[in-house]
Amino acid sequence: MITTTKRLGAVAVALASVTALTVILSPAASAAAPLRDLAAAKGRYFGNSMTAGDFNDSAYRALNAREAGVVTPGNEMKWDATQPSRGNFTFTRGDQVVAGAVAANQKVRGHTLVWHSQTPPWVQNLSATDMRSAMVNHINTVMGHYKGKVFAWDVVNEAFAEDGTRRQSFWQQKLGDGYIADAFRIARAADPTAKLYYNDYNTDGIGAKSDGVYNMVKAFKEQGVPIDGVGLQAHLIVGQVPSTMRQNMQRLADLGVDVAITELDIRMRTPADSAKLAQQARDYTAVVNACLAVARCVGITTWGLSDNHSWIPGVFPGEGAALPFDGNLQPKPAYDAMVSAFGNVPTTTTTTTTTSVPGDANCRVTDTINAWNTGLTSSITVTNTGTAPIDGWSLAFTLPGGQTITSGWNATYSPTSGQVAARNVSYNATLAPNASVTIGFQANHTGNTAAPPSFTLNGSACTTA
Ligand code: XIL
Repeated sequence: MITTTKRLGAVAVALASVTALTVILSPAASAAAPLRDLAAAKGRYFGNSMTAGDFNDSAYRALNAREAGVVTPGNEMKWDATQPSRGNFTFTRGDQVVAGAVAANQKVRGHTLVWHSQTPPWVQNLSATDMRSAMVNHINTVMGHYKGKVFAWDVVNEAFAEDGTRRQSFWQQKLGDGYIADAFRIARAADPTAKLYYNDYNTDGIGAKSDGVYNMVKAFKEQGVPIDGVGLQAHLIVGQVPSTMRQNMQRLADLGVDVAITELDIRMRTPADSAKLAQQARDYTAVVNACLAVARCVGITTWGLSDNHSWIPGVFPGEGAALPFDGNLQPKPAYDAMVSAFGNVPTTTTTTTTTSVPGDANCRVTDTINAWNTGLTSSITVTNTGTAPIDGWSLAFTLPGGQTITSGWNATYSPTSGQVAARNVSYNATLAPNASVTIGFQANHTGNTAAPPSFTLNGSACTTA
């Protein structure tokens, strides 16, 4: 048994002892259009996070220049970098990132002014009055320095807790609820041309935390607090892209703000293997499609381009491989997936399973999915691998979130989402040993075009990917 993942124009990789056969065809990959151009053709930007040090790696610098139209400094504009001690502003490293970006004809997103993290102790220990004046001075001085050079700022970063209440940071505890609105008002005055963003993580799909952000933005709009956008960091996990990402971005956009995906990476347990990389490619596709489906989603920034320039392994032990290029700066399936998604080229994913599983399996399932932006077809072949005929069958599987069956053939499907049973029709009720039946359906999706992870036939597990 082997697993093969093939990129057009790339070498097939064979790994022993893995059991599924996956072929991903990305027609646009061979065109190798840089993401910045493909995104621009869709009225979006594609961005990347760069540290000042990243510009010293010439191959990586070239990759960044080729792929990204926007750069976010990884650390260089944070408080600890720009004002390490009171009144002592240092812009050297931030300026290096701006210079590197300008040299590559890239715009710069500013990150970030008011945050509980990477902010020196001297700020955290101030009295309330003093802290407020330090915040005003910091926003004025940093935004003043970068006026005309930074087109958008993450004014406030990560101010919500997971349950949707305010994070009990030193800002919140000393200054109270009003500090975020304050920061936005000060920022607007400091640089009226910059777009002002609220930015956070775990706010990508609909949930308690994103509800908190949504309600704050709604209140800001009602009260005339100047906010232009919401950044969704999107530090995601392979196979767990929230199915409500598009809806979440749309509801924010409907409040009258732009939305941006600001720090995208999709991590996995390392080492990577072809199945995880294939899933990651589907996940990147889902994120790009979600953004493209929302008119006010202005762009996508990945937090690094290649797996050797990622914060993930340092912060999430045992995890990594989260970015579209590998450590040798070679494109991964995730890169091709983004090229296809931005280029609006349907990606065809074929998953053929030839695995034997222990137990009483008497069936083998092959599922072939053809997906486009909002829809897919699934063609499922069921083979009776047992020695007895099967008389009357029900194939059970769970559709990935966001998929809803709109029509089907050669079986009846019920319900149309979630845990589905596909039951035989009169003319294919009997399945002799070694005989196969092919059934299929068409479904809508919201970005997740994966096949169901497993199938059972009359209650017993089929061999499956
Ligand atoms: C990360 C940087 O990439 C690391 O180099 C640094 O050690 C920690 O911060 N959310 C954010 C970013 O808003 O600023 C963080 O960047 C990643 C999580």
